[in-house]
Amino acid sequence: MNDNLGWIDDELSIIADTGLMRQQTVCAPAANSTELMFDGETYVNFSNNDYLGLASDIATALEQSPALDQNWGSGASPLVTGRGVFHQKLERALADFKGSAAALLFPSGYAANVGAITAVTGAGDIIFSDARNHASIIDGCRLSRAKVEIYRHKDVDHLVELCKRAKDYRRKLIVTDALFSMDGDIAPLSLITEVARQYDSMLLVDEAHATGIYGATGRGMAQELGCEDGIDITVGTLSKALGSIGGFVSGSQQLVDLLVNKARTYIYSTAMPHTCARAGLLALECLKAEPERRDKLFKNVEYLTSRLIQREILPVRNYSQIVPVILGDTAVAMAKSKELRSAGFYIPAIRPPTVPEGESLLRISVSSAHTIKQLDGLVRALSE
Ligand SMILES: Cc1ncc(COP(=O)(O)O)c(C=O)c1O
Repeated sequence: MNDNLGWIDDELSIIADTGLMRQQTVCAPAANSTELMFDGETYVNFSNNDYLGLASDIATALEQSPALDQNWGSGASPLVTGRGVFHQKLERALADFKGSAAALLFPSGYAANVGAITAVTGAGDIIFSDARNHASIIDGCRLSRAKVEIYRHKDVDHLVELCKRAKDYRRKLIVTDALFSMDGDIAPLSLITEVARQYDSMLLVDEAHATGIYGATGRGMAQELGCEDGIDITVGTLSKALGSIGGFVSGSQQLVDLLVNKARTYIYSTAMPHTCARAGLLALECLKAEPERRDKLFKNVEYLTSRLIQREILPVRNYSQIVPVILGDTAVAMAKSKELRSAGFYIPAIRPPTVPEGESLLRISVSSAHTIKQLDGLVRALSE
């Protein structure tokens, strides 16, 4: 037998030697939405993005009103026969929620970023991308065949410097996360919209972690900061605060028409199951009907972070629902994560290449569903 894949053992040894080997896990939800089962044990879950505790409530709502006339799988890509009435309704509801003319569903937020970036840029264009943008943005930039300039994290002066230097490009695109997925910090969106305007650049903002959380009606960080008008393309996902699955792009009708024709991750991938589109609709209804979930989330964030600041576990700054405890060394972060697991808390260590070398961290995801007892327990465990 030939050994064409023999090199994989060497590759895996290199990954193992650097302490960065990733392992698959099998987790199951427990009775309470803030707990999970792993290897037969129950842990308090501070590691998922179901920030408003919607996932379990949507599951219950779907169970109570099954759509018996729908197949489970959609069976085809959206432009063939995969897009049904629930997909259409959800796209309309997402556009209304975002206050945009139109919205388009993708199989995931990852696909939405890759599809949108590659549809609006190509060879001869230039993209300015924040150094800490999500992998799906990075991959979209790589696939676009545009020149990519990385500006220092949240550094608007550096962005301006790069924009000034960019001459003779057909189109320009600035792209940034709104709420950065690992550090939980916020992009200076108001300033970035001004830069985009001044340098005639399109602006794409990925609101994955801010959707459903920030802004007067939960549209996201741009609504919170009052700069929605300056953004051309918004990416969102149903997979985080909306407790479901699927990504979307919102913006003008022309933008959506272009994506329908050019976004390959939309055209060449099976549409999400009809039931998932129904789940998205339920999530939006719930978000509207129960704003108290967001209030509770912010209270929980304040409760936890003020105590961790008091104990000098966190530096003084404002925190979102993504709370990073930066430990630096990967081995230290791994050991701390293991220790926390022994104490009953599930918080994986985040290591390179997800974060830069020397910046490994524990990423705490706070949910509105966490109880004071669970938050106090985590403060105690982190203090030890
Ligand atoms: C900032 C950001 N954008 C996009 C995505 C991708 O979203 P999805 O999980 O729906 O593919 C993520 C997911 O982790 C993310 O953190």
